[in-house]
Amino acid sequence: MTSILFVCLGNICRSPMAEFVFRDLVQKRGLGDRFHIASAATSAEELGNPVHPGTRRRLAREGISTAGKTAVQLTRRDYGRYDLLIGMEQRNLSAMLRILGGDPQGKVRRLLDFTGSPRDISDPWYTGDFDRTYDDVWEGCLGLLEYLEAESR
Ligand code: 4NP
Repeated sequence: MTSILFVCLGNICRSPMAEFVFRDLVQKRGLGDRFHIASAATSAEELGNPVHPGTRRRLAREGISTAGKTAVQLTRRDYGRYDLLIGMEQRNLSAMLRILGGDPQGKVRRLLDFTGSPRDISDPWYTGDFDRTYDDVWEGCLGLLEYLEAESR
């Protein structure tokens, strides 16, 4: 079992998108049992709030529901609970390292570093462009799965 925690600033736009897209991807490939997948925020801004309507609507077009997900905050204990803690942008990684107190086992990564074009995923909370965020998240999730499958061979 591989445990993966996706992390962004608010846990209402990007990291829940990655959580639900990656879960859908592994389920469709018959690999659902091999993964525990969740998402969390570095900030306390949105704690307890449901997924942003922009993310919800974009995922609904893919037949994916985010029902039941509410924002939770990353804690230091999560470091022991997950194999990979994956931020959406460099700024998330800095905040994650602060909360986790470091990364001695090299578990903290950036999602698009699993692709051929490493970069940040810009925040749709500010850009309003949930389509672009979805395309980036999809690319990152595919790259992540390819990485994990190569590792397990
Ligand atoms: P997210 O987007 O980090 O992708 O969930 C944001 C959501 C809320 C806020 C910032 C970013 N906020 O400042 O409340």
